[in-house]
Amino acid sequence: MVAASMWHSRIGFVGALACASLWAQHAVEGEGKKHPALGDPQAIAEGQKLYMASCAGCHGPKGQGGRGPNLRHRGMWHPLDDNELFKTIQKGVPGADMPATNLPEDKIWQLVAFVRSLTAPAIENRVPGNPEAGERVFWSAGAGCSNCHRILGRGGMLGPDLSNIGATKPVEEIRESVVDPHADGFHHYRAVTAFLKNGKSIQGVARNRTNYSIQIQDAQGQLHLLSIAEVADLKISPRSPMPGDYAKRLTPQQLEDLIAYLSRQSVRPYNAAEKK
Ligand code: HEC
Ligand code: HEC
Repeated sequence: MVAASMWHSRIGFVGALACASLWAQHAVEGEGKKHPALGDPQAIAEGQKLYMASCAGCHGPKGQGGRGPNLRHRGMWHPLDDNELFKTIQKGVPGADMPATNLPEDKIWQLVAFVRSLTAPAIENRVPGNPEAGERVFWSAGAGCSNCHRILGRGGMLGPDLSNIGATKPVEEIRESVVDPHADGFHHYRAVTAFLKNGKSIQGVARNRTNYSIQIQDAQGQLHLLSIAEVADLKISPRSPMPGDYAKRLTPQQLEDLIAYLSRQSVRPYNAAEKK
């Protein structure tokens, strides 16, 4: 089933190339023309409303799955190209539990745009916020993001480097990391304080732990390798040190701008024209 559908998309792709007069140029770009709704923030917002009304009941309000499959983690459903996604949403999945959608084509494209935005890297979507304003928020003392995160070599080391976050994470994941970072309960980074037998203490994130040693990275990025024999007490938080209250501390506009700024972070230049 999976292989057959991928095979179909291949044939469709090659067929489209053969028909296009500028096929050589298309072949270089690697894809055909995208529907204008894709990556468009207004279309995505409209698509989200439609999704909440007709799809969320089965696929979950955040696309996390339920009666229907998870739409956020690509591994859980085979990759569909844009036209296949359109057809699946329009016609449903006969024989499975997925009904057809009785909506005009432009509305279905809005749904496609929304479903795509759940998995596409943030940089492929235009975002409503203002990246320049978001940059100021990020580097401001009030927000304090740069105490823990670095972008292109500037900033702190307690949290992940965000230089490439826009090219690796979808917008919604970035948003959730900022407004609700402890939602999934799974953390690579755990806040830790080690109280040493010599009276000193070291605070940071746990990097590596065995039965005999623990490695702690402090806010300055320095690594401390401690033997458990030196440690009098170890407090490891179940959470990462990422603050969980930004939804309250920042205004909705500041958050939107911050997400726009993070969505633009890519170590490789992104050429929007190439993807049109
Ligand atoms: C009654 C429950 C239900 C509703 C409502 C529903 N779906 Fe589904 N959806 C399913 C099921 C079940 C599948 C898995 C079908 C299969 O076995 O391939 C599915 C599959 C999908 C897939 C993946 C198809 C694939 O082959 O991987 C997409 C994308 C999708 N649905 C989007 C939507 C959208 C968008 C809507 C709203 C317009 C929607 N669904 C409404 C149950 C539902
Ligand atoms: C006290 C340190 C600290 C501060 C301040 C902080 N963060 Fe974080 N942040 C972290 C840590 C640690 C993680 C890793 C979370 C995890 O794995 O659970 C993280 C995760 C993230 C992620 C997800 C990164 C990824 O690779 O998935 C984003 C995005 C993010 N933070 C943005 C921000 C923004 C924006 C601000 C400011 C508004 C901020 N953080 C402030 C420590 C911090």
